[in-house]
Amino acid sequence: MDEQPLVVTLDGPAGSGKTTVAKLVAAQLGIAYLDSGAMFRGLAYVLGENSWDWPEKRLQSVLSELSFELVGRSAEAELLLNGRPLGEDIRQENVGMWASHLAKIKLVREHLKAAQQMLGAQRSLVAEGRDMGTVIFPRAKHKFFLEARPEERAKRRFRQLQEMGVAADLLELTENLHLRDEQDRNRALAPLKPAEDAVIVDTTGMNANQVAETIIARVLADGTVAHA
Ligand code: DC
Repeated sequence: MDEQPLVVTLDGPAGSGKTTVAKLVAAQLGIAYLDSGAMFRGLAYVLGENSWDWPEKRLQSVLSELSFELVGRSAEAELLLNGRPLGEDIRQENVGMWASHLAKIKLVREHLKAAQQMLGAQRSLVAEGRDMGTVIFPRAKHKFFLEARPEERAKRRFRQLQEMGVAADLLELTENLHLRDEQDRNRALAPLKPAEDAVIVDTTGMNANQVAETIIARVLADGTVAHA
């Protein structure tokens, strides 16, 4: 029996449906779900606006005080920052943009890389983000990259925010998503791109259940045993 934790990576641009799909896949496989975007958002929320312009020493000293854990079993596992759950506030559009700015900084990426790899070494995971398959878990057995047309991604994000009771403007969201994508794809460090061995799934016109089923079918076809 394979005793290594199972890692399934799910990367893609904002609004590609990664979060919903990753949760469904994790629940179905009975393993934890790691939202790496929430880690960047959590840091952005705590550090605040313009923290990406801070001198390295200040950033380093604040980062050294911040740590993440995944607490709880299987798909119910919850991500904590310094022992506290990350609330809905991190989902605001401006926090997403701040996260994208912070995500360009080497110090920030290295801090989170260490935390993400430690979590993946401890337990089986569906890890969702931008660089899970390329940089964080390059040896993961199952890698997926989700795509969808920009206008569909903006609409999904709009509906998601509405469901959370967060006010949003579709036009502004579309523009925001575009800017954030450009920034995430074109940065020097760990840019958003599919790993060479990732399966690319175009989710345009598919619902989250259909995407999750596609992914689960491929993972199970390999007969991998999960250790939650
Ligand atoms: O997945 P998300 O939209 O919640 O992520 C917010 C931002 O965090 C995203 O625009 C870029 C950054 N991010 C990253 O650089 N690498 C990751 N693995 C996850 C997120």
